[in-house]
Amino acid sequence: MDDQDLYQECIDFASRAHKDQNVPGKDYPYITHVSNVAMEIIFAHTRLKINDFSLALQCALLHDTIEDTDVDSKTIEAKFGKNVMLGVNALTKDANLPKSERMMDSLERILKLSPEIGMVKMADRITNLQPPPGHWSSEKISTYKEESRLIYEKLKHCHAFLAERLMNKIEKYPG
Ligand code: NI
Repeated sequence: MDDQDLYQECIDFASRAHKDQNVPGKDYPYITHVSNVAMEIIFAHTRLKINDFSLALQCALLHDTIEDTDVDSKTIEAKFGKNVMLGVNALTKDANLPKSERMMDSLERILKLSPEIGMVKMADRITNLQPPPGHWSSEKISTYKEESRLIYEKLKHCHAFLAERLMNKIEKYPG
């Protein structure tokens, strides 16, 4: 299937899954976040070729479905195949772990897979490094910035252009 058709199939699926959600603190649909992550992957691919571009694109569009909706990994595997399911699973934080361990655990699972999954994690964080919501404490802001540095350190080898873009975002982030 052409990547454009694959894109449509994934964004249709994700739109339906996230249909009742907004971007946290915003008055527009959550799918905006998802499509921004995919946009980062597409631009990154034009700057530095991504080997398995289809895998990165699908995982970008589906990356929050298991974590934030009632979609399960069986459904993802049946519709999009095993590699996409494994990628989306690794990008999903384990809610059974203490909050402070969830990111590291996810990063360790991402590192066991192909670099495309690490690219999606970097694209996700690039997209999320927007000016923090007004109600965030300075401690929460600096924790988020520290966590972003951890993502950078662990995944920078996955894609040099995304890594550079992530570092630029971190440097401009307050805290
Ligand atoms: Ni996300």
